[in-house]
Amino acid sequence: MTRLARHRWLIPLIIAIAIAGIAPAAVFAQPPSPLSPASSNAADIVRLHTIIMAIAAVIFVIVEGLLLYSAFRYRRRDDAEIPRQIYGSVPVEVAWTIAPAIIVVILMILTVRTMRTVAEPPAGTLDVQVVGHQWWWEFRYPDLGVVTANELHVPVGEVARFELTSADVVHSFWTPQLAGKTDAMPGRTTRTWFRATEPGVYQGQCAEFCGAQHAQMRFLVIVESQSDFEAWTQQQAAAPVSVTADQAKQGETLFFQSACVGCHTIQGTNAQAKTGPDLTHVGSRRTIAADTLDNTPENMAKWIQNPQAIKPGALMPNLNLAPQDVDALVAYLQSLK
Ligand code: CUA
Repeated sequence: MTRLARHRWLIPLIIAIAIAGIAPAAVFAQPPSPLSPASSNAADIVRLHTIIMAIAAVIFVIVEGLLLYSAFRYRRRDDAEIPRQIYGSVPVEVAWTIAPAIIVVILMILTVRTMRTVAEPPAGTLDVQVVGHQWWWEFRYPDLGVVTANELHVPVGEVARFELTSADVVHSFWTPQLAGKTDAMPGRTTRTWFRATEPGVYQGQCAEFCGAQHAQMRFLVIVESQSDFEAWTQQQAAAPVSVTADQAKQGETLFFQSACVGCHTIQGTNAQAKTGPDLTHVGSRRTIAADTLDNTPENMAKWIQNPQAIKPGALMPNLNLAPQDVDALVAYLQSLK
């Protein structure tokens, strides 16, 4: 029996390892993967990634092919046999020095080119200031008079430019399908941009470990038509509608009598604090607590009742409110569309 025959079990093992290596690629390409790009930048990055992977795959096949070929072709058949040895072949030495050097130079040129396109924002019309907080995102549109949290709206096909900073520790602004990661650092301003090509709702995530709730520091990017975007900015820039329903009115009174007013802003009112998210139009948002919960009255009640049970360590304390007070606050906040 030959050695190969004795180790026949290795073949299914090798095939299983190869499948295990390839299968995740299909999973990783699902949104919000960077491999399903929805902006010009993300498409550039995927193109570079594909070229590098293709070159690496060719090298892998050649090297592993030679390795397997040599292992079988020159395997030791009996103890006395020694295959023919080669020492100091100039052509071989030159080839395996020059070939990698050429590959590295090609990869460097391609990488630097992509880095430049991705780094330099073209002239754009939409400027957004992004502030990272433990653990939520503040989005300010200075030219439009809009301040919101955890939900970014941008028009499709337009260049959106972002200026990033942080209120506390280092965060990283990342929407895998729209742009690469950009750090948001206290005391510094960093920049990024993208031009979204497909309308849709894209998941964003803080990508720099920033404390206990780093994983719950998410946001949504809503890419919409120019007219939807204009309707949204008009609604967001307006003062909140005045509340009429009794329960909402009770909630409003409670909001200004309790600790809420010490941390949050509601435009057009006495609430002007900046510790927590701006709540002027909180009722219009799809999620609360940085995309941790869908924005439903039930979830908002759960959150106000005991934020620490949902995001332990978050700055919002447990106010020990009575259930009917929580319901009144929810009625008020949900009315802020
Ligand atoms: Cu902010 Cu991680």
